[in-house]
Amino acid sequence: MQEKKINLKEREMPTRWYNVMPDIPNGVEPPLDPETRQPAGPEKLAPIFPMGLLEQEMSDKRWIDIPREIQEIYHIWRPSPLVRANNLEKALGTKAKIFFKYEGVSPSGSHKTNSAVAQAYYNKQEGVKRLSTETGAGQWGSALSFATHKFGLECKVYMVRVSFEQKPYRKSMMNTYGAEIVASPSSDTNTGRRIIEEFPDTAGSLGIAISEAVEDAASREDTKYALGSVLNHVILHQSIIGLEAKKQMEIAGEYPDVLIGCCGGGSNFAGLATPFLTDKLEGKKLKMIGVEPASCPTLTRGLLAYDFGDVARTTPLLYMYTLGHDFIPPGIHAGGLRYHGMSPIISALVREKIIEPTSVHQLECFESGVLFARTEGIIPAPETCHAIRAAIIEATRDKDDPKTILFNFSGHGLLDLSSYDKFHAGQLQNYDYPEEDIIAATRNLPRV
Ligand SMILES: Cc1ncc(COP(=O)(O)O)c(C=O)c1O
Repeated sequence: MQEKKINLKEREMPTRWYNVMPDIPNGVEPPLDPETRQPAGPEKLAPIFPMGLLEQEMSDKRWIDIPREIQEIYHIWRPSPLVRANNLEKALGTKAKIFFKYEGVSPSGSHKTNSAVAQAYYNKQEGVKRLSTETGAGQWGSALSFATHKFGLECKVYMVRVSFEQKPYRKSMMNTYGAEIVASPSSDTNTGRRIIEEFPDTAGSLGIAISEAVEDAASREDTKYALGSVLNHVILHQSIIGLEAKKQMEIAGEYPDVLIGCCGGGSNFAGLATPFLTDKLEGKKLKMIGVEPASCPTLTRGLLAYDFGDVARTTPLLYMYTLGHDFIPPGIHAGGLRYHGMSPIISALVREKIIEPTSVHQLECFESGVLFARTEGIIPAPETCHAIRAAIIEATRDKDDPKTILFNFSGHGLLDLSSYDKFHAGQLQNYDYPEEDIIAATRNLPRV
C-alpha cells in the first residue's frame, strides 16, 4: 500500500530558497518609477521596504540561504506534508493520481506564513519597529500578525471591508497575535477617507487596502510596509513549498504531469511551480496550470502592461497582467483572489507559455471544496477550492490517459465557514466580469 502522507524530517527541510529570476526565458521587465518611468532602483523603494528584502527583490542569485532564525520558526509547522488524495480519486472514479502539498498546517492556516516570517525577520534586522499591511482573505494579515509578534514588532492590518465583515474570527486571530486591524477603506488614511466619501458603500479591494498600508508606512519613521504576494521576494520565500514537494514526490516514486495552484497575486502557485521550472525547460513534459476566478480574470482576460499595484497609484509600475488598478472586483468569497494584477514572475511565465492560465466559477469551486472536505476531511479555503476544481477537471479529463497531478493546498477554510453556509443555503452566485468593464478599467493604464 502506498503511504498516504509523505513527511520530511525537520533536518530534511531545504535550507536555501530558490530564486527563479535567472531562469525565466527572456527575463522579467523591471519595475518603473511612476514619475520618471525609468527603472526603479532600491533607493526608490527604500522608504517602505528594508534593504534585505530589496536585495532579494533584485537578486539574480539562483540560491539564497534561509537564515537560521527563520528556519527555527519554520520548524513550528515545516516541512509540510505531501498527501495523496486517494479518497478523492476514489470518489471521482479516476485512475489519475492526485497529490496535494498541504500548506494549511501553518499557524495562520496558509502558505502566507512562509513569507511573513521572512519579511518580519529582515525588517527586525534593520531596526524597524512596526509593519503595515493589507489583507484580502485575512490569511496574510494573520500570518504577518503572528510573524511580527515573533520578532517583537508592532503590526497594523488594513483588511478589505467585505472580508472584514465575512470573517470576524480572522480579526480575533490577528488580535490574539497582538496586531491592530481596521476595515479598509478606513478613516485612518487620506486614501481611505477619500474613497469612503466617493463610494460610501464600497466592498473595498486589495488595491485600496494596499494604498492605505503604503500611505501608513510612508507617513511614519518607525514603520515599513509588507506585501503578501506579487513581488519577487515573496515568491522567493514561497519556493520552499516546491522544493519540499519535489523531494517528497521523489520519495513517493512519482513525478507530476500536471502542477496546479490558484492565483491571486501568484505567490502560492509560483512557490510550488518555480522549483520545477528548470526540469520543464530541459524538456520534461509538465503542464503548469494557474487558476483564477472568472469574476477576476487577470491572466485569462487582462492585459500584459505596466500598471500600478494599488488604487491610489503610489506603488512603482509593475509589468504584469492587469485588469487596471481601479478595477473593483465583485465581492466573491475567495477574497485572496480579488486582485487586479499578478506577479511579474507569473506574468512572464504566462507570456512565455510556460504556465497555462484558466478560470473557474465560484459555485463549481465550492462544490469541489465540499467534495474534498467529504472525502479527504479537510475544509479548504475558498481560494484553494479553485486549485481543487482544476485538479478535478484534470483528473477526469481523459480516462485512458490518467495523469499524476500535484496541486498546492494553499490554506484551510476553518475561518471561512460563513462562505460555506451561504453556499449551502444557495445564496452564492457566479459572476462573469463584463467585457465593457474590463475595457473601461484598462483604459486608465499608465502610458509608458
Ligand atoms: C488560502 C489562500 N490561497 C491563495 C491565496 C492567493 O494568493 P497568492 O496567489 O499570492 O498565493 C490567498 C490570498 O490571500 C489565500 O489566503
